[in-house]
Amino acid sequence: MCGIVGYVGSNLAYPVLIDGLKKLEYRGYDSAGVALHTGNSIEVYKKEGKVSALEGSVYGKNIQATIGIGHTRWATHGEPSDRNAHPHSSNSGDIAMIHNGIIENYAQLKNELLQKGYTFKSDTDSEVLVNFIEDIKINNECSLEEAVRIALKRVVGAYVILLLDKDLPDTIIAARKGSPLVIGIGDNAHYLGSDASPMLAYTKEVVYINDYELAIVRPDELVLKNLGNERITPFVQKLDIELASIEKGGFDHFMLKEIFEQPQTIFDSLRGRMDAEQQSITLSGVDKIADKLLKANRVIIVACGTSWHAGLLAEYVIEELCRINVEVEYASEFRYRNPIITDQDVIIAISQSGETADTLVALENAKKQGATIFGLVNVVGSSIARIADAGAYTHAGPEIGVASTKAFTAQLAVLYLIALKVAQLKGTIEATLFNKLLADLAKVPEHVKEILEDQDAIIQEIARKYSDARDFLYLGRGYNFPIALEGALKLKEVSYIHAEGYPAAEMKHGPIALVDDQLPVVFVATKDSYHEKIISNIQEIKARKGKVIAVVSHGDEVAADLADDVMFVPQVHEIIAPILSVIPLQLLSYHIGVNRGLDVDKPRNLAKSVTVE
Ligand code: F6R
Repeated sequence: MCGIVGYVGSNLAYPVLIDGLKKLEYRGYDSAGVALHTGNSIEVYKKEGKVSALEGSVYGKNIQATIGIGHTRWATHGEPSDRNAHPHSSNSGDIAMIHNGIIENYAQLKNELLQKGYTFKSDTDSEVLVNFIEDIKINNECSLEEAVRIALKRVVGAYVILLLDKDLPDTIIAARKGSPLVIGIGDNAHYLGSDASPMLAYTKEVVYINDYELAIVRPDELVLKNLGNERITPFVQKLDIELASIEKGGFDHFMLKEIFEQPQTIFDSLRGRMDAEQQSITLSGVDKIADKLLKANRVIIVACGTSWHAGLLAEYVIEELCRINVEVEYASEFRYRNPIITDQDVIIAISQSGETADTLVALENAKKQGATIFGLVNVVGSSIARIADAGAYTHAGPEIGVASTKAFTAQLAVLYLIALKVAQLKGTIEATLFNKLLADLAKVPEHVKEILEDQDAIIQEIARKYSDARDFLYLGRGYNFPIALEGALKLKEVSYIHAEGYPAAEMKHGPIALVDDQLPVVFVATKDSYHEKIISNIQEIKARKGKVIAVVSHGDEVAADLADDVMFVPQVHEIIAPILSVIPLQLLSYHIGVNRGLDVDKPRNLAKSVTVE
């Protein structure tokens, strides 16, 4: 969380920083700020709220600087306010710093500094760190680079930091542990960012900085060192993302654009990996750890949020098709309890960003205990992708809307391929079923297109009817249960309406008490082996006057007649159905959020990349 940018070159820095901050705003939008070195002094501008508020407050100022750093904040220590906004300055005003992460031992460091007479303007852990660095610099009479190195040896926590020093008018010092940092190499210029989006307009050549590395960045020079002051050769990689992929392209919101991109993104996730005619699946990541997978005691899926929902569906599918024991774990729980992990376990980590702190640390712990790590990640080059023993990218392209949509369906597409491939290798699937599932999977992009074209207007009408509801219940059984959870999460995130997802039969064990004539209940009720059961559940809600909105298969008149409002999806095999059933639910959430006048791309309190635990 928090987005950081930096620029050092020969052009004006301020426009580059503001443009970069707008691209990173999905990482947090509680406040924004920049620090610019004008040659003689460091000027800091910061403001509570979104980047546009910062722009408004800086409007009309003529900032002549070709080097600067910028920050967009997701608050951890201290409320969102001008005072707590980054950059933070040291007591002398000579050093300005931005920080993404959490300094866990900040209280102890702060006490030491208070005893030395330091004062603090903010409640942040970051202001403590910049003063800690300044104190070391003064006491050791050393360079900023050396002071940072010494300071970081005492810091407990996660960080990316970017610093400007009054005495260094052409240098940014940067360091990372646990939070992401990318440096773009331009023409006599360098660009720094939490991801590559701020630099895409200027360069395709980037270096991903690793933990415990320190960068000394000047217009014409990038020096990388470890904390032991040894030089490291930067590994330059070529980006294959296009600028258009991070712009709205005529849609009102990124969320809508990303929902409508799904026929293409699902196609991209499958492309080159499956051949329905040849009945074959090519996944080099699975091949790489095939012996481990085939002999695995169990597969443990570790993820958070929407990615966890993809993991839950994968549990159902892998157990059914591969007959391997699967457990799905919330990364935040898994990392802090004391799970029994052996070298016979395979961990599948699912993450859009590849930077989620809890998932990352859970993997590091499991790796130490000998487990094999497979990463299913969207962001190329991200931390999870890099620590995994093997993996597969989801190829959904950059997802900017904070609520995950296209990344989820891309995760499902690749998880289906993984399950099918392992089942084929293990011999636990009949050829007819394998062929049927592969054929249905191949048709998913086309079916999603059909849903978007046929159902969007209908769903807008349904959304209008229910936009003022106070609560929603989402129910599904079997393969559609994870989709009920995902539908509820999506609605909560973008509409702020309270919503809960439940297994449809579990409703009778409590949630049914909520049902009255005001409660919309969304059933994910496509035709499957449990269909008659879910029809009974719909009846039970109707008998209590609840309002039923149902996702049903084309041609299913029984469910359609029972429901007050219906969203249709094409009928496919029940294992593949969830990747279609989720599409109407994404649209429903989006339209309700928009009807309620909310910023669906940047819901309050959320951030896209949760790099703090
Ligand atoms: C929901 C959402 C979050 C993420 C979660 C994990 O729409 O976006 O719940 O799914 O924070 O993030 P990743 O997948 O980046 O690890």
